[in-house]
Amino acid sequence: MIELHDIRKIYQLGDEEVHALDGVTLTIQDHEFVAIIGASGSGKSTLMNIIGCLDTADEGTYMIDGQEVSDLSERQQSILRNRKIGFIFQQFNLLPKLTAYENVELPLIYQGVSAHERKERVLEALTKVDLAHRVHHRPNQLSGGQQQRVAVARALVTRPSLILADEPTGNLDSHSTKDIMNLLQDLHKQGNTLVLITHDNEIAAQAPRRVRLFDGRIISDSAADTPDSMQNSVSPGNNPDSGQDSDSSSDNHSHLSDQDSTASANPLSERTTASENQSAEQPQASPRSRGHESSEDRNGGDTQ
Ligand SMILES: Nc1ncnc2c1ncn2[C@@H]1O[C@H](COP(=O)(O)OP(=O)(O)OP(=O)(O)O)[C@@H](O)[C@H]1O
Ligand SMILES: [Mg+2]
Repeated sequence: MIELHDIRKIYQLGDEEVHALDGVTLTIQDHEFVAIIGASGSGKSTLMNIIGCLDTADEGTYMIDGQEVSDLSERQQSILRNRKIGFIFQQFNLLPKLTAYENVELPLIYQGVSAHERKERVLEALTKVDLAHRVHHRPNQLSGGQQQRVAVARALVTRPSLILADEPTGNLDSHSTKDIMNLLQDLHKQGNTLVLITHDNEIAAQAPRRVRLFDGRIISDSAADTPDSMQNSVSPGNNPDSGQDSDSSSDNHSHLSDQDSTASANPLSERTTASENQSAEQPQASPRSRGHESSEDRNGGDTQ
């Protein structure tokens, strides 16, 4: 279970303070499928980075499965990421020199899984995303939709309980979008907790629960009976949702901002300072993380 309480994230840009998250309180139960929706700049990726332990909040508390994340060392956080969380990014973040097979295998190498088991699990994951016939292809030999399917396989091969997807269909055509959404729906049906970030109402509508961000605050939560969701509600006049999950003014705006959204979809490459401070050893997400994780990381400090 994910429990965020009064989370704040402030970026200092020269004299200006950007309140990327401005008091977010949110609980996500195990096995939920939640879409986080909002215009460009509303704080979606910032929130995902915090949920994924890729970044830390300036204020507030974040508990994952009853464990206060800020009490964990960087190494413990990286183990938690590696064991519990699968990431899917808009720009796929595959390693260009590795084949589909090797990209999917990498997080298992970090986990110290034996070669025999790795082979079984990698092929199983690639079969699940219907790419068993493309195992030896490198990312530049695959279509966008296929690359994202490799990224989905990489996210699920570690059998994470939580899957975080930040605009996973943002770079895909409608056919591939459908494929990826079907895969995500399957993962949810199989019991994964799924947090899907999108600015697209049609995509969000496929999630049973939708949480809408605006200027770093939650302005609506379709799980209206969740007490936490109400704490950040704005007055009805300001609420684009007005309790509904249909279209909103903020999202109309967001459709104009696709370029902005690509800029922040990859926290590991964009937020060097925050990520490097935590030595983000999320192997499936960034080439820079390769080789950072020691054997102690893999074997010790398990947070489960
Ligand atoms: N490293 C940073 N330094 C300064 N400001 C930042 C940084 N990262 C994000 N911001 C600001 O924080 C706010 C929230 O950014 P965030 O990336 O979370 O938005 P988003 O909802 O994911 O947008 P998009 O849909 O465009 O991806 C924005 O105003 C952004 O400009
Ligand atoms: Mg974003």
